[in-house]
Amino acid sequence: MNGQSREKESRLCEADDCLKEFAEEVAAGLSLTPKQLPCKYLYDAEGSRLFQAIMELEEYYPTRCETEILNRHKEDISTIVGKAEFNLVELGAGDGAKTKILLRHFLDLGLSFRYVPIDISPSAVQGLTCDLRKEFKGLAIQGLATDYFEGLRHLARLDRRSSFVLFLGSNIGNFTPGESLIFLSSLRTSLRTGDYILVGFDLKKDLNTLLRAYNDPKGVTARFNTNILRRINDELGGNFVPSQFEYFSTYNPRAGAIESFLISLRRQNVLVEQCGRSFSFSKWEPIHTESSYKFRKEDFGRMARRQGFRAVASFCDSRRYFTDTLWQAVPFRGSGPQDQCV
Ligand SMILES: C[S@@+](CC[C@H](N)C(=O)[O-])C[C@H]1O[C@@H](n2cnc3c(N)ncnc32)[C@H](O)[C@@H]1O
Repeated sequence: MNGQSREKESRLCEADDCLKEFAEEVAAGLSLTPKQLPCKYLYDAEGSRLFQAIMELEEYYPTRCETEILNRHKEDISTIVGKAEFNLVELGAGDGAKTKILLRHFLDLGLSFRYVPIDISPSAVQGLTCDLRKEFKGLAIQGLATDYFEGLRHLARLDRRSSFVLFLGSNIGNFTPGESLIFLSSLRTSLRTGDYILVGFDLKKDLNTLLRAYNDPKGVTARFNTNILRRINDELGGNFVPSQFEYFSTYNPRAGAIESFLISLRRQNVLVEQCGRSFSFSKWEPIHTESSYKFRKEDFGRMARRQGFRAVASFCDSRRYFTDTLWQAVPFRGSGPQDQCV
């Protein structure tokens, strides 16, 4: 077997492994009470396209808030992080629209860095890489289509340059509190003392603003969630009828999270061939598709200190809806000054 066919075969094996894992996680999630599906599966090519459409919606404030923050504070950020050569690693990069603000600024300053966007959606990584190669001639890019944890293993294997990790868009809010501690601890292990991370946190705010952001009247967010059923049909041989499920999203004040569901409109059985079985739904039974946790400033200051980071600065938008907070990796068990919102 020559090198090219070996490479093709190993790509096919990887694709088979991904599909097997997808089938296993769907089977496990739909066997739970209440049923759930991991939100990472919302993002195939169509899911990424629909998420871009969500970011354009007037009701979806996080994108505009974070754009404002990065425009206002790109100088502060570059002054703190941009001294030596570094890898700019972005976890869950999506279309990188906001990241371009930093990329442009860093290139204008002549900083020496390589951009490493990592995302579970291959189409997002391909689209972003292609787009950036056209827009930023001379930018060194190394995209990777994989999940966060494999991305962190890749980060730990990168060359000896320092790392600056971006985790924007309140992606961290999709983890439960327990999962986010596990994630931050893995992230800290993949970094060296002195490395920086910039994490976006969506803040607790008035309920109307929160609810509107996840219940747009055009139904884009509903289509984004329902897309997971179509994906199961296409990739795992499912026979979901998406119109027999209704999207519902609400704020759970005890959890401090927006919780999204697809609700079965009737009693039904759904066969998923690759899971080797069918799943029964009673009328009005929900599938939990996503949680988006909302934070208070005290929450993430504490998270930083517990996971081996020092909060260096926090940048808020003018409405105080969203914060990008800059942390530096310190020796484990180190503690740092309280962060201040500027
Ligand atoms: C809410 S979007 C935010 C995109 C971007 N960070 C932004 O702020 O516009 C989440 C992104 O993370 C990616 N993603 C979701 N779960 C992931 C996982 N487990 N591993 C890697 N990427 C993931 C999705 O494909 C999507 O592009």
